Amino acid sequence: MELKEQIDLNNLPQHIAIIMDGNGRWAKQKGKARVFGHKNGVQSVREVTEAGAELGIKYMTLYAFSTENWNRPKYEVTALMTLLVSTIRKEIATLNKNSIRLKTIGNTEMLPKAAQKELAEAIESTKNNDRMTLILALSYSSKSEIVSAAKKLAQKVKDGQINIEDINEESISNSLHTKDFPDPELMIRTSGETRISNFLLWQLAYAELFFTPVFWPDFRKDHLYEAILNFQNRERRFGLTSEQIDKTGN
Ligand code: IPE
Ligand code: IPE
Ligand code: MG
Repeated sequence: MELKEQIDLNNLPQHIAIIMDGNGRWAKQKGKARVFGHKNGVQSVREVTEAGAELGIKYMTLYAFSTENWNRPKYEVTALMTLLVSTIRKEIATLNKNSIRLKTIGNTEMLPKAAQKELAEAIESTKNNDRMTLILALSYSSKSEIVSAAKKLAQKVKDGQINIEDINEESISNSLHTKDFPDPELMIRTSGETRISNFLLWQLAYAELFFTPVFWPDFRKDHLYEAILNFQNRERRFGLTSEQIDKTGN
């Protein structure tokens, strides 16, 4: 049976987050420059977005550029920004055709003006789409997101809008860039690295983590199905015992 047919559509993660990693190593293996890997990673973005929407995944967050990535060689950063602008421009029609809404998280005000403009247009043009929300993490740092949440809440206390006692998990969640989205239940990282790299530290508190050696430019629909099937075969216990979860009592 095809991988896709084995997926239980009644037990899909609502939100999948992906650390798209390994573009540089993929290119190096082929004797090419790192940027060649980034360019080929775009097709993988198309594939997972389409596969997610087809299955009925409601939210997908893709880690496209971290705050730390600003420290890469200037030509690589410039190439990534140029690629971002041209890709967004090319994909708007497809996003609308598939009823996918685009959103971003991260310090996007640090992006070049052209990228900010392209993103704003794509976000506006797709805002009424309701099949799936595609969230691009751009110039994103989870620690910096948590710091700004702490500052927002501290300011509210200072202004007398809330009391210290009002600070709880919900108010912190509501102060993050992800406030409008549910937490991811599944996080996938490609390229064999098994770390979080400052991605959604708060939001991934109880996510299932899936690591695959596949480099991002090689990632295809079947790889996404494999990760979802793996997720569906896990028991999510949330601190309880297996017996408490198994409702048949066995
Ligand atoms: C992921 O691939 C893309 C970005 C971080 C922008 P990398 O560029 O990190 O590729 P590797 O990890 O060096 O192979
Ligand atoms: C994480 O990948 C960021 C993105 C995928 C955008 P990196 O390749 O930058 O992560 P580290 O630095 O190796 O952990
Ligand atoms: Mg990397």
